Amino acid sequence: MTKIFITRDIPDAGLKMLKKHKSIKLSIYQKDKKIPRKELLTHVKGVDIILSILTDKIDAQVMDAAGPQLKMIANYAVGFNNIDIEAAKKRGIIVTNAPGPEITESVAEHAVAFIFGLAHRILETDKFNRAGKYTGWGPKLLLGTDVTGKTLGIIGTGNIGNALARRLHDGFDIKILYNDIKRSPNLEKKYGAKFRTKDQLLKESDFVSLHVPLLPGTVHLIGARELKMMKKTAFLINTSRGPVVDEAALTKALTNGEIAGAGLDVYENEPKINKTLLKLQNTILTPHTASATVETRQAMSRTAATNILAFLSNKQIPNKI
Ligand code: GLV
Ligand code: GLV
Repeated sequence: MTKIFITRDIPDAGLKMLKKHKSIKLSIYQKDKKIPRKELLTHVKGVDIILSILTDKIDAQVMDAAGPQLKMIANYAVGFNNIDIEAAKKRGIIVTNAPGPEITESVAEHAVAFIFGLAHRILETDKFNRAGKYTGWGPKLLLGTDVTGKTLGIIGTGNIGNALARRLHDGFDIKILYNDIKRSPNLEKKYGAKFRTKDQLLKESDFVSLHVPLLPGTVHLIGARELKMMKKTAFLINTSRGPVVDEAALTKALTNGEIAGAGLDVYENEPKINKTLLKLQNTILTPHTASATVETRQAMSRTAATNILAFLSNKQIPNKI
């Protein structure tokens, strides 16, 4: 019997796959909220596999609370900064994440939505209307900016960064600049993307979109210094992880007009959001919902289950970290 503990009820596609196996015993934390730490430490006791979500901190303490039979942690997310990978390695525990074509497109779409939403001032103008301020068409009323032909700087060109480049290059003649730890011949050949140092990319881009994982080296990748390098007319998009951006510095830059606006899906101290940031008009702030589509959340459920079933049948595990 393989005992799997799922830390929160997830969409059912993957659960159905797991339930087909008589040798698997599933238990799911039933309350629709983040499992409190204490309960997590109790619930994992004696399980073979933990299916975790991105808000669960799965560290050495959790692994040891589970016990030496714990063999796998299947994360229901692309990012896996919530898991202590070193501690897992030391204990011979396999860790998997849940990438796939659906989440790639879903997050890229969300970045696209931010770009257009900010450029065309969709939220601001909607609020303007609802506040009863629309008294007549005006040639200079609430002017935004075009997206077509502008320059997009992508920092981090994994699957999501690539998808964003493809959509905007093919659809809107966007010029693509990119920065990553390695060059991407595919991006250069297909979308005419040009490699830039981070600083140079920041100076040249009209939109800067972040698609890096959260690692010690990417904490505050964008801080006061970087924001100063950006054009006053530029927008920053973050759908990666909150700590990649110094939120206090960003709030200051937005308040002082150092950059034009920001689209953020993630925050430095989630679920807390800087109070001043919440008041600014030139921002679109979504609650870590870039992957929150029915299709994607079901696909992630299938991916997590596929990883688990591959492990249990000694097959190659598709998304082993
Ligand atoms: C979402 O943030 C994910 O990493 O899947
Ligand atoms: C705007 O509504 C236009 O017709 O130019």
